Parts: sequence; C-alpha cells; structure tokens
Amino acid sequence: MTQTTPANRYPAAPLWRAVDDYFSDALVGEDAALVAARDSGASTTMPNAEVAANQGALLGMLVQIAGARRVLEFGTLAGYSTIWFARAVGETGRVVTFELEEQNAAVARENLTRAGVADRVDVVVGPASDSAQQLIDSGAEPFDFVFIDADKPSNPAYLAAALELTRPGAVIVIDNVVRDGAVADPDSDDPRVQGVRQVVADIAADPRLEATALQTVGVKGWDGVIVLRRK
Ligand code: DHB
Ligand code: MG
Repeated sequence: MTQTTPANRYPAAPLWRAVDDYFSDALVGEDAALVAARDSGASTTMPNAEVAANQGALLGMLVQIAGARRVLEFGTLAGYSTIWFARAVGETGRVVTFELEEQNAAVARENLTRAGVADRVDVVVGPASDSAQQLIDSGAEPFDFVFIDADKPSNPAYLAAALELTRPGAVIVIDNVVRDGAVADPDSDDPRVQGVRQVVADIAADPRLEATALQTVGVKGWDGVIVLRRK
C-alpha cells in the first residue's frame, strides 16, 4: 500500500515545505547539535515526530517572552524541542522532560550533551502520568511553561497534571491538535483525536484558563497547537 504523506495527500504540500525551508534557512539557523538531534529522531520509537526548526524557534521564543525559568515537557523522544527549551531558559534555568522509553531517553541525553545543555535538563523515564504525580507529591517548585507533546489520548491527564505543577501566569502549549483536520470530527474513532477534543472541552470549562489554537502547515504536514495561559 502506498503510504499517505502530506506530499501526496495535499497538492500544496511541496510548497509548504519550500516555505518552511525558506524561513528556517533565513531566520532560524539550526546549529550542528540541533541538526544531529533532528537526524537522530529517526532512531526513536516514533521516528521524525520532533517539531520543525521554525516551530522549535517559536517555542524557545515563547519561553523567553514568558520569562520562564522552569520548563516541563511531556514527550522527549530525541530531545530536539528539549534543546530549544534548555537554551531558552539559559544557564540558570531548568527543564524537566518526561520520556516513556529508555531507548529514546538515551538518544536524548546524548543530544543534550552534544548541545552543551545536559546539566540543566532532567530526562525522567517512565509513564509521564506517574512521573508527573511524583513531582506533584514531592512538592516540586512550580513550572512557568509546559509543552504537552506525548501520547495524545493522555492529553487531558497531562493538562490536569500541568495545572497541579504551575501557577497563574504559566503558559502551556499542546502539540498536534489538528491532525490533518480530523479534530473537527466529533465522531472520530481515533483515540488521539478524542484526546485532543477532550482536552479542548476541559480547557473551555476551566475558568482559570484562557486559550487559543492555530492550524499550521509545513514540513510536518497539516497540524496545529493550542496555546493556553493560566489567568
Ligand atoms: C505524532 C506525534 C507528535 O508529537 C508529532 O509531532 C507528530 C505526530 C503522532 O502521534 O503521530
Ligand atoms: Mg508533537
């Protein structure tokens, strides 16, 4: 069976890539450590799921705009976005990142070391809900910024945990919320889509939160992010 990819699903997809490449080459400039982290993404249990270069740069800028010192990430894989966060928080900042698979965590640690930021990142291996609960139980210092980018059916649980681990003013970003437009189908039988729709309903019902969501196209296909802020 021919694999369906953005390139054959959408006639405009080659142009999406060309525009991403144009902006990323002109404005972002991945260094060798980021390129190596991206390349090693192919050897993780979820190959090539890392954010695009221009998305990584946006995440880093959001961290800096928010003045965030402590970042929590659900879903490490090869640590590509983790490097952006670690650089954005600076030498005195801290990143905690949750990864289910030891195999991926090992790849990430290597990439973080190559990027010179391993000393400011904790890669925590295990189910992210358990790791988050341990942080909550230990009374961990609150986080200023949270990136939720792990198994999509758990989005509602990860948001609930993020709310236990943040204070008013915190920013939370949730990745992959559009999924080729599938998010608009209330009857979708895809648990990943339902994980997005449930977290959207939870956000809408929570008076502590304000949020918006954006569709994106580019090298990652057609997808999008939710950006939330704790009032
Ligand atoms: C998927 C997950 C991701 O985090 C991503 O960025 C792209 C795809 C997935 O579950 O298919
Ligand atoms: Mg993602």
